[in-house]
Amino acid sequence: MVSQVMQSEARGPSAEDLGRIVAEKSGRPGALLAVLEAAQAAHPANFLPPEVVAKVAELMGLPLSQVRNVATFYSFFNMDPQGRHTLTICRGTACHTRGSRNLLEALMSSLTFTPVEPGQTEKISLTTQDNEFTVRTVACFGQCALAPVVEVDRVIHGHMNRQKLLSSVSKITEAKKKEGGRT
Ligand code: FES
Repeated sequence: MVSQVMQSEARGPSAEDLGRIVAEKSGRPGALLAVLEAAQAAHPANFLPPEVVAKVAELMGLPLSQVRNVATFYSFFNMDPQGRHTLTICRGTACHTRGSRNLLEALMSSLTFTPVEPGQTEKISLTTQDNEFTVRTVACFGQCALAPVVEVDRVIHGHMNRQKLLSSVSKITEAKKKEGGRT
């Protein structure tokens, strides 16, 4: 039943894929985290749909609530489809003091996201309609000496400023245009 649901889910890991992942990771310390991480990586939109979470619980013989709690607790698990590129702004105290809100607002306006309500910029995860970018926030990268810190596609950039950040976004957008021009 679950596998039928998953086949209709856009290109997510199949029940067979998940079975292989569980067989490979089970029995090791932190197996559930490793399974969820691999399941997420197997989804082209880099997230864990409810059907995948349910199938992992079934395959591992764990209560669904436990698996769901783990998936939603850790910030590196995504419960919604993610863009091809991820821009993560640190909203911790050190980064906030050094202007991370300004960086976040620069992204929000340059990527023309739906405006964020006042007070809602502390923790967000928004994806553009074309699925190119996901903008997220984290509480702290543990790199406070480099504040303000922004992660662009898993690469940490310290001492970020508005110009450098928007330049990174432009480079990604230009590269995509060139890619499109070749096809
Ligand atoms: S507060 Fe931003 S890295 Fe720690």
